[in-house]
Amino acid sequence: MKFIRYQENLRDKKILLRLDLNVPIKNGIIKDETRINKILPTINFLLKKKSKILIISHIGRPNGKKEESLSLKPICENLKTKLNQDIRLIKKDIFELKKEDLFKDTKYQIIVLENIRFYREEEKNDDNFSKHLAKLGDLYVNDAFSCSHREHASVSKITKFIPSYAGLQLETEINALKKVTSEIKKPISCIVGGSKISTKIGLIKNLIPKFDHIIIAGGMANNILSYKGNPTGKSLKEKDCEKIIGDIFKTAKIHSCSITFPEDVAVGNSINGKSTIKGIADVKNDDLILDIGPKTIKKIKDIIEISQTVLWNGPVGYFENINFAIGCYEIAKKIIEKNKNNQIYSVAGGGDTIAVLNQINALKSFNFVSTAGGAFLEYLEGKELPGIKALS
Ligand code: 3PG
Repeated sequence: MKFIRYQENLRDKKILLRLDLNVPIKNGIIKDETRINKILPTINFLLKKKSKILIISHIGRPNGKKEESLSLKPICENLKTKLNQDIRLIKKDIFELKKEDLFKDTKYQIIVLENIRFYREEEKNDDNFSKHLAKLGDLYVNDAFSCSHREHASVSKITKFIPSYAGLQLETEINALKKVTSEIKKPISCIVGGSKISTKIGLIKNLIPKFDHIIIAGGMANNILSYKGNPTGKSLKEKDCEKIIGDIFKTAKIHSCSITFPEDVAVGNSINGKSTIKGIADVKNDDLILDIGPKTIKKIKDIIEISQTVLWNGPVGYFENINFAIGCYEIAKKIIEKNKNNQIYSVAGGGDTIAVLNQINALKSFNFVSTAGGAFLEYLEGKELPGIKALS
C-alpha cells in the first residue's frame, strides 16, 4: 500500500480525495461533526503541498437518485469555515465534467463533487463510471476507512485506472486497528455492547482466540442472562440466539478467554424512568434492564485494571437517559485513568460509543476512536475490506 503522506511532488497535482462525509444532518444542520474534524489534517496537508483537491463523498442512501436533503452543501459550508477556504460544490452531471475545466477558476483549490451516490453506477462499482472519475484527477487518495467495506466505484474500482494512495486518516485507522488485531500487547480485553448479539457474533467469534477477556453488556447481554435461566422482564431480547450464545461459551473455553456478563443490573419501568439496582435473579415481569449494576461495573473495572490493551464497541446501557449512563461513564473513566498513566492502549469505535464519549468530552482521552461503524466491525471480524484490498 502506498501512503500519500510520503509522496513528493504533489504541487498542482489534481487529487481525487475520497472521504466519508456521511454525517447526520437534520433540516440542513449537521448534528455530529466528528467525521469532518477527523479529515481536516488530510485536506490541510494537501493544501500545504499546493495540490488541487477534488473531494468525492456520499451521504445517506439515495439509491442512485438526486435528493436535495442528501446534498453535500451543508458540509461544504462547514468545510469553508473550518478551512477558511473558498470551496465550490459541483452539481453538474459528472459525465459532463472535464479535468482541464475543473480548476480553471484559480480562486478554488478545493472542489467538492455532489453526493456520489446520486449516481446508480457508484454502488454498482461500474467500470465506465470509475474510468470517467479517474480521468478527472492525477492521483487518487482513499481517506474514507469508514466506507472501505463497500465495493463501490469511488472506493474500489477507481483504483484500477489511476495511481492510488492511502490517506492520513486511513493510515492512522489501520495502524490503530492493528494494535487490537495483529500487533497486540497482552492482556487484551474487549467490551462489546449494543442491542443485537447477532450483528456482533462475527466480531465476538473472531476476537475470542486472540483476546483474554470479553465483556458482553448492553441489550445483547439480556440474551445471555436469559440463556443462563434468569428473568429479563420486558427487556430487549433477540429471538433464536441460543445457538450463537452456546457457540460463544464453547469457543471461549477452547481458547481460555473469559466471558463476563452482568451480575447485577439497573432496571426502570420505561426508558425515560428512574433506575433501581437489582440482582439478576430479582428482575420482575414489568422491569426493563437498561444498565449494568455496581457489582458488574467493579468487575469490568478490575479487568481493565489488569489489561494492557482494551477495545470498546457499543454502549453498555441506555445512555440517552442519564440515569442509565452510569455503566458507560464508569468504564470510560477507568480507561481514561489508565490512559493518563500510559498503562493501556485504548481503541473505541461505533457511532453510539462515540456519542457516549462525546457526552463526557472524552473523545481525545482514548488512544484511538474510530468513526467507522460497519467497516470497523468487518475489519475486526477479520474480513478483507474491498477499499483496502484495492490499495494493496
Ligand atoms: C457509514 O456511515 O458507515 C459509511 O458512510 C457507510 O455507509 P453505508 O452503510 O450507507 O454504506
